[in-house]
Amino acid sequence: MSLTPMTTLDGSGPGSGHATPPFRSSISRRTSISLSLPASRRGSGTVPTMTGKDLPFHHRTNDGEALPHATKKTMADHLRKYESLFTLTPQRMRMIVDAFEETLDKGLQKEGEVVPMIPTFVFGWPKGSETGSYVALDLGGTNLRVCLVTLQGGGKFEITQTKYRLSEEQKQEEGEALFDFCAKCLKTFVDSYLADFDLDGATIPLGFTFSYPCEQERIDHGRLIRWTKGFGNPNVEGHDVAAMFRSSLAKFGVPIELVSLINDTTGTLIASQYVNPRTRIGVIFGTGCNAAYMEKIGNIPKIKQLGLPDDGEMAINCEWGAFDSFSHEHLPRTKYDIDIDQSSNKPDEQAFEKCISGRYLGEIFRLVICEMIDDGSIFLGQNTYKIEKPYVLETAFLSLMEADPTDELLTVVGIFTHFYGLETTLAERQFFRALAKLIGTRAARLSACGIAAIVSKMGYLDQGCDVAADGSLYSKYPGFPDRVHQGLTDIFGPKGKNIRTVHAEDGSGVGSAIIAAMTNERRAAGIFPHC
Ligand code: GLC
Repeated sequence: MSLTPMTTLDGSGPGSGHATPPFRSSISRRTSISLSLPASRRGSGTVPTMTGKDLPFHHRTNDGEALPHATKKTMADHLRKYESLFTLTPQRMRMIVDAFEETLDKGLQKEGEVVPMIPTFVFGWPKGSETGSYVALDLGGTNLRVCLVTLQGGGKFEITQTKYRLSEEQKQEEGEALFDFCAKCLKTFVDSYLADFDLDGATIPLGFTFSYPCEQERIDHGRLIRWTKGFGNPNVEGHDVAAMFRSSLAKFGVPIELVSLINDTTGTLIASQYVNPRTRIGVIFGTGCNAAYMEKIGNIPKIKQLGLPDDGEMAINCEWGAFDSFSHEHLPRTKYDIDIDQSSNKPDEQAFEKCISGRYLGEIFRLVICEMIDDGSIFLGQNTYKIEKPYVLETAFLSLMEADPTDELLTVVGIFTHFYGLETTLAERQFFRALAKLIGTRAARLSACGIAAIVSKMGYLDQGCDVAADGSLYSKYPGFPDRVHQGLTDIFGPKGKNIRTVHAEDGSGVGSAIIAAMTNERRAAGIFPHC
């Protein structure tokens, strides 16, 4: 297992660029999940031989005109069909928001609800005066990041970070091995960056950002409810991940003390509030999709037995990616969404997330393409085996297609020829770009529904608020923030403009450090010391 860091940033503050990974290409491959495909495929480029085996049929020509491409008219007809499947009307959005709001309320009432609305034991907002150096470890859906965050007070901080790309194998190996890997990365980081720290026998405080649904009894504890985002490491679900990580730290002798376990959304919420007091909600639109916000303790009946003051505040990690899981009553799922769900390692779970997040959008697009190959609408006579592999079409390609500035759509040409060996006509490329836009827009408008549900539940609309947002979809997908804003206006009318999303880059790591600082201060002051 390689411990080579993917990125090293030197104390440069948030917003610094990333180096190219030394051991992975930027185009990552995912483990194949087999989908059942029809036995006979037109245009798939295989012919049966006398031995009964299929032989790949390699048909190549430089004469684009000679290929039986679909005509422009046919592509326009197809587009109309997909428009009606992927378009969300304002009326439909408002219905989703109503159901969403009810679901959020339910989650606060009792344990075991589909959207778990997890109390985080992060009590209220930071003061902005928190100071000190903290290590933050952030296990997200795609990367593991290790950061040294120095809080300087007055809303200022410095961050040094190292990033490792997680392989698909690491997401499935024994749970203990995953935490051992985290501990080893942390040790490498401590040895390289903190060797000069005068520890004097003390340990370095750590904020652990573990971005999966965990039920917490206190801030340095978290029982994993279920893996999300394609992770499936055995022997972690149902266990306290903080305890598991502590034993890995002890095993490798890392001089670190885990102070707080948080979710990336909570980190983003708190980090953003540290610098921008208008922040009320933190959202992540990345490999996964989720939100956190600050709730009055009196409005969280399921923790009444803790005897905390009703007028105090606590951040809630919604885990809204689970909205509409199992019952599938509210979301307009297409057959492509259902296909993805049923062939995933967690069928029926994370229904909302599977329509929105970066892990799935490219796959939705690919399934539409495969359907069109099957019915003979595109790529007739070409060998399509490369694009028929599950998860080979990354969401990043949808971004690139939408951002293609050329009339001929040369980026789209490049993607299809380079990665899948497929030739395309201009009409097809225009269709692909339009399809990407439909899928990306639906994701943004569904995201707006989630934000609107929190806004409406908390009564933030009239006064307005900022929503701190991070994740690759939010920061890299062209037009995603604008589409979320349009969605909010479609839901609320002109008042929707009062709700503004703001990019909170690297919030989860910085937030983790701030929360560790808040926790140390709170415990030192004897406030809820057991929480
Ligand atoms: C998934 C996780 C959640 C996380 C989100 C964004 O939804 O369950 O905990 O916040 O992805 O990373």
